[in-house]
Amino acid sequence: MAKETVLITGASSGIGMGLAKLFAADGSDLVLVARREDRLNELAEKLKSEHGIEVHVLPKDLSKKTSPKEIFNHLKKEKIEIDVLVNNAGFGSRGMVSELDTDLQVDMVQVNAAALTHLTSLFLPGIIERGQGGILNVGSLAGFQPGPNLAVYFATKAYVLSFTEALAEEISNPNIKISCFAPGPVKTEFGEKSDLEDSLLFKLSLMDLEPAVKAGYEGFRKGKTIVIPGLKQQIVPFLNRFTPRLIVRKIAKKLNS
Ligand SMILES: NC(=O)c1ccc[n+]([C@@H]2O[C@H](COP(=O)([O-])OP(=O)(O)OC[C@H]3O[C@@H](n4cnc5c(N)ncnc54)[C@H](OP(=O)(O)O)[C@@H]3O)[C@@H](O)[C@H]2O)c1
Repeated sequence: MAKETVLITGASSGIGMGLAKLFAADGSDLVLVARREDRLNELAEKLKSEHGIEVHVLPKDLSKKTSPKEIFNHLKKEKIEIDVLVNNAGFGSRGMVSELDTDLQVDMVQVNAAALTHLTSLFLPGIIERGQGGILNVGSLAGFQPGPNLAVYFATKAYVLSFTEALAEEISNPNIKISCFAPGPVKTEFGEKSDLEDSLLFKLSLMDLEPAVKAGYEGFRKGKTIVIPGLKQQIVPFLNRFTPRLIVRKIAKKLNS
């Protein structure tokens, strides 16, 4: 594999950190983005010493509309070309739309969907020009149905799925991989931060981080458009196709409560 540089958002914990470790083990140079700079620096030092790679730390808050352009401009100035963009940063929050904080919900759309789109639009032309690399968007099993009690989160993940599938069809070069990684519940900080730890959803199907991330990484390398880790989890989109929408919504509401 040719030397590549991978930009990973949300690399300070969970799935993003797991993916950073796998790309690093393959010898890729990294650009790590998230808000918690101390976490990013710690990870950068570890990966540099373990794998002899270059790691660039870029602390940014992706709920700020200007952040994607700032990231792009900074890397341009530093002459760092991105081969693989991993749009992983994201968060959720359990609760009804009428009760959750308005700014929080708008920020969720910004981080989970708008920043992902903005970064894709900025970095994709360079990837196409160089003719290698790709985009790995972290969606969710949540993207396959509406999610009462997590309505905005589920809707952003439906966007990520639709956007990524469409993007995959737009790219004709087989050396450029476009994947939507769509895991079900995974053991990360996400469960606690989203207030989902005691939900039926998390009780029924929580996956360990390592196998989930490994499936996502390998699926991307193979050029799979949609990557769902876990057999039980893979059944969900299949069953949704044959179940009336009304029932699907009711089941999702139960699982999120
Ligand atoms: N865990 C699950 O059950 C699960 C299932 C399906 C999909 N996912 C998706 O997987 C992705 C990663 O989540 P995770 O499970 O690894 O959760 P996590 O451990 O909470 O990690 C979330 C990451 O996103 C970053 N982030 C959040 N808000 C940000 C902001 N405003 N600006 C920049 N970075 C931000 C966080 O960094 P800072 O806090 O340092 O900024 C952190 O690195 C998310 O898109 C999530 O929706 C998770």
